[in-house]
Amino acid sequence: MSAPPRKPGRRSQQWFGRDGKQGFYYRSWLKGMGVPHEMFDGRPVIGICNTWSELTPCNSSFRELAEYVKRGVYEAGGFPLEFPVMSLGETQIRPTAMLYRNLAAMDVEESIRANPIDGVVLLMGCDKTTPALLMGAASVDLPTIGISGGPSLSGNWRGKPVGSGTGVIEMSEMVRAGTLSQDEFNEAEACMQRSKGSCMTMGTASTMACMVEALGMSLPENAAIPAVDARRFRLAHLSGRRIVEMVREDLRMSKVLTRKAFANAIRANAAIGGSTNAVIHLLAIAGRLGVDLSLDDWDAIGSRLPCLVNLKPSGQYLMEDFYYAGGLPAVLREIAAHLDLDAPTVNGRTLGENIAEAPCWNRDVIRPLAEPVRPEAGIAVLRGNLAPDGAVIKPSAASPHLLRHRGRAVVFEDIDDFKRRIDDEALEVDADSILVLKNCGPRGYPGMAEVGNMPLPPKLLRQGVTDLVRISDARMSGTAYGTVVLHVSPEAAAGGPLALVREGDVIELDVPGRRLHLEVDAAELARRRAQWTAPPPPARGWERLYVQHVQQAHLGADLDFLVGGSGDGVAGDSH
Ligand code: FES
Repeated sequence: MSAPPRKPGRRSQQWFGRDGKQGFYYRSWLKGMGVPHEMFDGRPVIGICNTWSELTPCNSSFRELAEYVKRGVYEAGGFPLEFPVMSLGETQIRPTAMLYRNLAAMDVEESIRANPIDGVVLLMGCDKTTPALLMGAASVDLPTIGISGGPSLSGNWRGKPVGSGTGVIEMSEMVRAGTLSQDEFNEAEACMQRSKGSCMTMGTASTMACMVEALGMSLPENAAIPAVDARRFRLAHLSGRRIVEMVREDLRMSKVLTRKAFANAIRANAAIGGSTNAVIHLLAIAGRLGVDLSLDDWDAIGSRLPCLVNLKPSGQYLMEDFYYAGGLPAVLREIAAHLDLDAPTVNGRTLGENIAEAPCWNRDVIRPLAEPVRPEAGIAVLRGNLAPDGAVIKPSAASPHLLRHRGRAVVFEDIDDFKRRIDDEALEVDADSILVLKNCGPRGYPGMAEVGNMPLPPKLLRQGVTDLVRISDARMSGTAYGTVVLHVSPEAAAGGPLALVREGDVIELDVPGRRLHLEVDAAELARRRAQWTAPPPPARGWERLYVQHVQQAHLGADLDFLVGGSGDGVAGDSH
């Protein structure tokens, strides 16, 4: 049996197309898995990047999903090889999965580059797995296609729909207000998550799945097909088939992820009422590719667009309803006049071609442009002396009467301080107060936890208060809602003005005017700054590396030395 022919243009042939000892090494051990000799003949080798883990329940269908991808790869004449990368389970990982997004991205990047791979399929689901895989793959820039795991089935408790995350927040506030018993609360746990799959509200996972599709990085319909629906597995099959063609066409990630693609995604995020977390993740992905995208682009490009998707937390329905109504293609068709329709996508067609005929089957779930859920729904970027580098708010999830508000600050120095005092009946807080939480940003927490939507004090809940202005350097779950100012930059732990806010200071929030102002004069702020000291860095390990190198939220919170890419160059032999 002769050595397979060399195909110098194919990356994997630098492993498998070799004579002598090296080629033997590279092929022989794979033959130990039952791989026939002809699989090394120069056909596209497709890496299937899998984030399956029982510690990430949202991605627990991914073993099966990968099998369907393999079917498609074989069918198209490719050679699939599945590999695991660090999985990030939003609900289990402490202190926050965001602390590890960049670590997982490093794992993805190095795993792809170090191995005999010509093209990549990214299996993504739970919140951080999507940006981590896109960031890592972007820094290698091979032909790449995404397939999301899909949302779980709609939650249902006592005949009523219950949305992931959003339902927890609502019901836990009812427990705190004394209107729901602990037993009833426990019973609802099994009723909310009824199947494998990601959160079925328009939380961060669904938002990021929509971003993958709007960016052109997946086949159409990827965002919304339920995880357990047979059509999800069919899409995986087709994605496997398509990635082989993409390798032959040399359709690399950088050809799809242009500024136009990011602009389309930002507009799509407004139309779906998407998560604020998309801001940070898209900035980080763009940074890996050298695409010129800034925090202000989010406001300039997307903030005036309406929210058309009537899904929790901004609306009423859940992801299953969204899919049956037509999913993201129907939304994109509705806002087609605002999109760059000539943006290329991974199926070789333009975005405009993909959505031209997209039907909508339910006009209450996906509203027409003339009858939106909210008229101006994108991300508003605030600036002022409290957030010189910016802060964000999602007006569609906020209370309209609080979008212009002045109030006195009730200040919590960190999350422990907040947890210790928020239930205290003696806490001096009223319906006009503004809750301020410090030291929950990228460096401060560390990892920038989703604690920005602080629960309200029980005594106000009992008075019927359902929302307060809340300001922090933290993030918020995409399933959360409220008048919540997030991602204040620079963060308190980096010495941002947020660190200087004191109890009783007056703060002005003006969302229409895009302003966040601390009504304390400059001389007093300078006095306070002189007394401020930076928190000590973590002693060792990943946390130390992270805190030393993480960028601020307005830049995407990537590590400074990971911005950009190193391409797909092949390193020297290991033996
Ligand atoms: Fe995994 Fe929401 S917790 S998708």
